Amino acid sequence: MTEIKKIAVLGAGLMGHGIAQVATQVGKYEVNLRDVEQRFVDSGVSMIRESLQRFVKKGQLTEADLDATLARIHPTLDLKEAVANADLIIEAVPENLELKKATFREVDSYAPSHAIIASNTSSVSITEMASATKRPERVCGMHFFNPPQLMKLIEVIRGAKTSDATIETILAVAHRMEKETVLVKKDSPGFIVNRILIPALNEAVALCYEGVADRDDIDKAIKLGLNWPMGPLMLLDYIGSDTTLAIAEVLTKELDPKFHPTTGLKQMAKAQLLGRKTGKGFYDWTQK
Ligand code: 3HC
Repeated sequence: MTEIKKIAVLGAGLMGHGIAQVATQVGKYEVNLRDVEQRFVDSGVSMIRESLQRFVKKGQLTEADLDATLARIHPTLDLKEAVANADLIIEAVPENLELKKATFREVDSYAPSHAIIASNTSSVSITEMASATKRPERVCGMHFFNPPQLMKLIEVIRGAKTSDATIETILAVAHRMEKETVLVKKDSPGFIVNRILIPALNEAVALCYEGVADRDDIDKAIKLGLNWPMGPLMLLDYIGSDTTLAIAEVLTKELDPKFHPTTGLKQMAKAQLLGRKTGKGFYDWTQK
């Protein structure tokens, strides 16, 4: 097993900032947080501060813990600086295969040879990203759920060449972050959760677009009928119609045409009705 002391998180967005927070706040790791523009890094750090303040308000964290957590986060724009002294790199850049492969290639050239590269991808093939590196045995999936600060699960995904030692190390890191884990033994599109979730969200959009029921009744039905914490259309706004569409397209292409995205889902993404990211989706988030 590799000893992990320093983690680099690539991407300070919706998922990246939450992953960096969990790693520092709960795992007590030192974290280099990297994004491509200063405004993205600043926004990531300020989302972390806001989230930590919520824990302080509830008495689950002291002001001193908050300061210590923030002190363990080292923001940077420089990829080489971010990964050069890292034992584990967690990639959380946008869901685009070419971008992810280019990132993996570059990380591989700068990171120490013992370092593990894990991806938080929700749909891209771990095996394909690993093939962009010279260390496919030290590449795997580490899939967090939104918001990472609150969601208990991490899916750990084995790529075609991932070694047992890499999986053991990632499971240990996840447990140090006080997360529950499941092992995805084969690198299969959507892994476990998204293969089940995305068709459900897709159908919720279809019900709404076909006029079978109104938004609020669809969400109420699933909240009360299935005991989900939020309805599928609100959850879709949390995830983003763009991300949901991208996952549906991968499932359709790689697994089965039955996963094809509905017209409604495609229209939401085309119209930039992405949910919380753009302020509007099925709900209006501009006032929240
Ligand atoms: N940091 C710290 N605390 C936070 C927080 C954050 N980012 N967000 C919310 N909280 C706290 C609030 O302060 C509140 O605390 P309190 O109850 O002690 O006052 C508590 O969490 C509940 O928050 P809210 O009242 O605002 O809202 P909810 O009760 O609806 O809970 C939720 C929020 C935990 C997000 C809940 O709605 C939920 O579990 N929703 C489903 C989320 C889900 O399914 N995520 C998975 C998406 S799929 C995915 O990520 C995979 C990807 O690949 C697509």
